[in-house]
Amino acid sequence: MSITKVVIPAAGLGTRLFPATKSQPKEMLPLGRKPMIQLVVEEMLQAGLWKVLVITGQKKRAIEDHFDAADGDLFGEGESATDGLLPQFYFRRQAAQRGLGDAVNHAKEFTGSEPFAVALGDCIIDGDGPAPLMCRLLEAHCSKGAAATIAVQQVAPEAVSSYGIVVPEGDTEATFRIRDIVEKPSMAQAPSHLAVAARYVFQPEIYDFLGRTEPGHGGEIQLTDAIKLMLGEGLRVWCVPLAPGERRLDIGSFKTYAQAFFSMMLRDPELGAELRDYVHGLLD
Ligand code: G1P
Repeated sequence: MSITKVVIPAAGLGTRLFPATKSQPKEMLPLGRKPMIQLVVEEMLQAGLWKVLVITGQKKRAIEDHFDAADGDLFGEGESATDGLLPQFYFRRQAAQRGLGDAVNHAKEFTGSEPFAVALGDCIIDGDGPAPLMCRLLEAHCSKGAAATIAVQQVAPEAVSSYGIVVPEGDTEATFRIRDIVEKPSMAQAPSHLAVAARYVFQPEIYDFLGRTEPGHGGEIQLTDAIKLMLGEGLRVWCVPLAPGERRLDIGSFKTYAQAFFSMMLRDPELGAELRDYVHGLLD
């Protein structure tokens, strides 16, 4: 099974980053020289996912404008990250903020009867694993014959209420199956500290479950709840943990945005050394 399509939900209002994102998409915030969403697309190209549907909404037109230049300028030769593969973009608007599950449901016509990946547009997977994380997810999904495959990461106990949290079947060292999942549980009710890490692969059956998912956490249609329904009906859901050398960089808050920006800028091939000296100077 060859998977070439990815859905990038990017319709969220970014209220936690106001006023920086009052009139521009948070996904266009730069991490070093490139906007976040371009780095997400490059991550997807590394895994051979070149048909890209971005779910947009109000104030997100800058994303479409940015990728208009994808004729070689952005992803052309010399961009080793993309292996010479050029993306083909599609855009669909989510008119109302009804949740991540609702956003993914807007991809139904785009993905049709094919399996597809989902990559949240406000974070990247940085660092080195045995292979890029999305490649490992696709490989696990196909070899296990999974209905859904999810990237997960260990988080601190006090952070569980910001994530979807999974309930593993057994050993969680390598690829593992789960028996339940819950969106943003309290610390006291969290069944584990393994959090959904913004990357997924689905069989098209996910749409049957999304169609039956009632509003959940925050009154929104949660992707996590659709996966929970899948598990309830006996479908197989597998997880791939982030490798020790990998981490998720996100722009969910000013703190994580600043961390992500520094991480990328301080290793800029041209300016990184000079900027590291500058930061040392500031700290002294
Ligand atoms: C979303 C998902 C959540 C997941 C998180 C990070 O939450 O609903 O399950 O753990 O992304 O991938 P959000 O950060 O959009 O509130």
